[in-house]
Amino acid sequence: QTPILPYDEIGAEKLSELVDAFYSNVAQHPKLKPIFPDDLTETARKQKQFLTQYLGGPNLYTEEHGHPMMKMRHNAFPITPERKDAWLACMSDAMDKTGLEGKFRHDLYRRLVLTANHMVNQQSHEE
Ligand code: HEM
Repeated sequence: QTPILPYDEIGAEKLSELVDAFYSNVAQHPKLKPIFPDDLTETARKQKQFLTQYLGGPNLYTEEHGHPMMKMRHNAFPITPERKDAWLACMSDAMDKTGLEGKFRHDLYRRLVLTANHMVNQQSHEE
């Protein structure tokens, strides 16, 4: 039996839907909105590239932007535990809206929790 990559399991189209649903949540979230650009088109495009390779698909992010170094790229933004929880809530809701379920959803979410925890770079923020 050929092992299936998470990327093949979700497919490019569903992944794109997930990312669009996610950033539409981010754009409306009071704790996240202030640290993101107003226009999330480019952010969503990069996130699609990143998640493609995160899930075992082609290295689209690295081909265009170099090594992800996600922790370092996030240092420019104040990421508190509160904002990390908000990010994950936006992702969980986006997973609901795109109909991800079962083991696939559970495993992806669990991985994202670990990655999100890693991005926290300060303990509190104003507002
Ligand atoms: C970029 C916030 C977690 C992947 C960004 C940006 C912000 C941000 C403000 C900049 C957007 C822009 O200028 O276009 C956060 C917060 C997180 C979080 C508050 C909470 C923990 C994550 C996680 C991942 C991720 C868990 C990956 C699974 C990315 C990617 C970019 C990005 C791929 C684009 C990087 C680039 O400019 O090349 N994030 N992020 N982020 N984030 Fe996050």
